[in-house]
Amino acid sequence: MAIRLGDIAPDFEADTTDGKVNFHEWKKDSWAVLFSHPKDFTPVCTTELGYTAKLKDEFAKRNVKVIGLSVDPVDSHHKWEKDIEETQGQAVNFPMIGDSDRKVADLYDMIHPNANDTMTVRSVFIIGPDKKVKLILTYPASTGRNVDELLRVIDSLQLTANYQVATPVNWTDGDDVIITAAVSDEDAKDKFPKGWKAVKPYLRITPQPNK
Ligand code: BEZ
Repeated sequence: MAIRLGDIAPDFEADTTDGKVNFHEWKKDSWAVLFSHPKDFTPVCTTELGYTAKLKDEFAKRNVKVIGLSVDPVDSHHKWEKDIEETQGQAVNFPMIGDSDRKVADLYDMIHPNANDTMTVRSVFIIGPDKKVKLILTYPASTGRNVDELLRVIDSLQLTANYQVATPVNWTDGDDVIITAAVSDEDAKDKFPKGWKAVKPYLRITPQPNK
């Protein structure tokens, strides 16, 4: 069955470049990004992994653990990691799942046979501390992901988990936000003491509450 937002992220055991991992135990109470790569020793994946590794401190600052996956075995990942370090100037610093039996890829529906029946697509699952799936993205093999966008959505997910706000188009951390419809104007006076601008009764803009 397809995984949907709000579902508990399926648990699994897998071989990774850091040894055997039980996903839920490994994640503990952190946030997690689980992302798949179509194939080892391919150019777009090489750039994505190097860039993601460069953002280690940004993920750590947000209490996010990163784990990659491809259907190639762990020993192949280890060989490929040397190329990633050489070409991207950055060693991979998160575990990569070796999913040759496609156990995890099938569990997370990462193989889309009408796109390609042997490789995974570029899936991204962002999972919260409560183990629930908060965001799902799917890109084709030919389009590298925007890893900065992952940090941006994590900022939004973490903010909206703690405050009754939503983030508008192209929002980035520090920008104004929207008060959700669940909050009455009366309650908003307490919850958003900096005030708000009601562009429409349903569009109330307020400064980001935790800044
Ligand atoms: C790549 O990462 O460059 C790639 C992987 C699989 C198919 C096409 C491109």
